[in-house]
Amino acid sequence: MSIPFIDLKTQYRALQSSIQARIDAVLEHGQYILGPEVRELEERLQTYTGAKHCITVASGTEALLISLMALGIQPGDEVITTPFTFVATAEVIVLLGAIPVFVDVEPDTCNIDANLIEAAITSKTKAIIPVSLYGQPADMDEINAIAARHGNIPVIEDAAQSFGAEYKGRKSCNLSTIGCTSFFPSKPLGCYGDGGALFTDNDAIAQACREIRVHGQSRRYVHTRIGVGGRMDTIQCAIVLAKLERFDWEVEQRIAIGRRYNELMDEHGICRITQRPDRTSVFAQYTILLDDREAVQSSLSAQNIPTAVHYPVPLNQQPAYADRCKGGSTPVAANLAKRVMSLPMGADLTHTDQLAVCELLRQGVCG
Ligand SMILES: Cc1ncc(COP(=O)(O)O)c(C=O)c1O
Repeated sequence: MSIPFIDLKTQYRALQSSIQARIDAVLEHGQYILGPEVRELEERLQTYTGAKHCITVASGTEALLISLMALGIQPGDEVITTPFTFVATAEVIVLLGAIPVFVDVEPDTCNIDANLIEAAITSKTKAIIPVSLYGQPADMDEINAIAARHGNIPVIEDAAQSFGAEYKGRKSCNLSTIGCTSFFPSKPLGCYGDGGALFTDNDAIAQACREIRVHGQSRRYVHTRIGVGGRMDTIQCAIVLAKLERFDWEVEQRIAIGRRYNELMDEHGICRITQRPDRTSVFAQYTILLDDREAVQSSLSAQNIPTAVHYPVPLNQQPAYADRCKGGSTPVAANLAKRVMSLPMGADLTHTDQLAVCELLRQGVCG
């Protein structure tokens, strides 16, 4: 038996003719940079999320970087975020000379603990970046309210893992000042390379992001700001457009599979990430909590069941960040980093394979 961690081949087979037709159309018209599919995708994603503006960019990392640049983040500014995330969330802060201020996370969802944010705010705080980890939105209303109480600090949702998720009936990416997502191939909505997008209702921020994406250019060869080469390729936009055909079905499948995993974990007495009632996760990962992770991982690996750890070390303990951040210790994140383990997940995971994963996991955990 061999079960992929994420099955992109079945998805490709299901969409092959549409994806090929979309790619062929780009090859025929030849507008590889900022071709018509770029705007078409942006319009489709605006409608999907309800955000006024969508700007596609080269990756999720670039979406975060461009957002911070558009907000005018300067060296020495502080940006509050979580240490329990992929490195890109904090990397972009440090790249601009700003300081990540790490706030601990909730033990049951692994998302930033909104109750701890207020104590971390100083006169230098210029943005807050909650991450909607594993596909479940962070407590965005509470975070927005705190930001509003402190002089409308901009809030950037790092929604790299949560495109398609909902929070109180609203779509992730459209829950705060800016939402940033990633189309990395393994994300809930992925392309076949690097890609990303940012979303905002704010016209001035949208305009700044559009200019920063093309070297700070307001008109051809008129550079009014410092920018980057941050466009998403037309071909990658075309692929995402083809993938949108099946996306609603995929989200439904992910939710059904995630809920079934929840039931099976509860049945087997295995600790898992909590899904809050006001949120609909897209289960970018299905993550459980174990005290003897290494032993369970090796027993599953011996049976060809791949697993992954997101993330083994909180960012405030990473060598490059330990001396560049503020925020003190984050014991909850440190403990979770030792215990989290993600199981095979995706819209095309079959019922039989899911049951097999759970049975082998049960044997690995309970002996
Ligand atoms: C939480 C988070 N933030 C940012 C990123 C960066 O996205 P990308 O890989 O598209 O640059 C990722 C993707 O891995 C992520 O999971």
